[in-house]
Amino acid sequence: MWQLARDTIGQDDLDALAEWLRTGPRLTQGELVRRFEQEWSAWLGVEESIMVGSGSVANFALVAVAAGRIRGRPPRVGVSAVTWSTNVSPSMLLGHEVVVFDVSPETLGVDEEQVVAALDEGRIDILFVTHLLGLDALTDGILQAVERNGVILLEDCCEAHGTRHGAAKVGTLGLGSTFSFYFGHHLSTIEGGMISTNDPEMADELRLMRAHGLARESSRFDSLSKANSGVDPRFLFVSPGLNFRPTELNAFLGSRQLAGLDERIAQRNANMARFMEEAPDWVWREYRLEGMSSFALPVIARDQEGTARVRETIGRLGIESRPVVAGNLLRQPFVQGHDVAPYRETTPVADHVHDHGIYVGNGHHVTVGMAETLAHALGGDTT
Ligand SMILES: Cc1ncc(COP(=O)(O)O)c(C=O)c1O
Repeated sequence: MWQLARDTIGQDDLDALAEWLRTGPRLTQGELVRRFEQEWSAWLGVEESIMVGSGSVANFALVAVAAGRIRGRPPRVGVSAVTWSTNVSPSMLLGHEVVVFDVSPETLGVDEEQVVAALDEGRIDILFVTHLLGLDALTDGILQAVERNGVILLEDCCEAHGTRHGAAKVGTLGLGSTFSFYFGHHLSTIEGGMISTNDPEMADELRLMRAHGLARESSRFDSLSKANSGVDPRFLFVSPGLNFRPTELNAFLGSRQLAGLDERIAQRNANMARFMEEAPDWVWREYRLEGMSSFALPVIARDQEGTARVRETIGRLGIESRPVVAGNLLRQPFVQGHDVAPYRETTPVADHVHDHGIYVGNGHHVTVGMAETLAHALGGDTT
């Protein structure tokens, strides 16, 4: 069975974990989390990384802290119509205005023309892009408009570990970025997430938010305790926080997984490249593959007849499939009745993805040969 995903945590990781557990180590957040954060920062090319319990809480913390930089009105946050629910939920929970952009068939990320227009009109304060399925969602046009208008750029890289925009890895291009280490992602820590940034103040605020708002998490601990001498410095709460901490177990697995990450990305990319070379023209093949770190293989037919053919083919081959991420979020019930609206009246490309979008798994359990077989079967090869 060609599954949607297979765990990247192997038997060797579990054996090593069991052996380490027998030594009676500290399990709550400590040295191993710190070490994995440093290794992640070095791999990604950023100054600071903060590990948390999931990609979703990474999004929440990042959006909450970034929103603190917008003064005088609830932030207006621009997002993609095709992303995961928890890219948008944080802004909804925090009372932001959410502006939804249609997507580009080349990147499955926000449409460049819409985003540049919205930025130049001063319509949004924060642009939270998603690098969907490991494709680079950014364009030089979007980056220039962000710069020109002083808008905060955040990147949801939960499906895009190692994706590049030009020479830089995505996740290094804005004020902050998020990654998920859930099952089926390029790297798994059971559950887990990371927030990366080059902004030390941002990193400080994120560490406080991750751990109850306690001053001892801050690099400014000495000055904060001096300024609040009436409170025990060990239990000094300096900002509103929650508990988004990971455990040492997650970091133990993360450090081990990081060693094989580049190799796994290369395999994913070889599968995706071959599939797109060999797939018939009646499925979308116009993706900009440059810089990708493929998460899954999208099989999006151009019309209803093609979609039926895709379903028949993957059914016959026994391949597991699912919609493209969450379809068009504007058609999901959780956004109804909230301050979430499209930038333009309609989102036709996202609607097409919603109605025709199917993806099959990619990962270390998929080979170039399997990708080729699927492409040929879609093209009519019944051998
Ligand atoms: C684009 C995107 N953002 C956020 C998340 C949330 O990550 P997690 O499952 O670790 O909460 C996911 C999960 O797959 C995702 O695909």
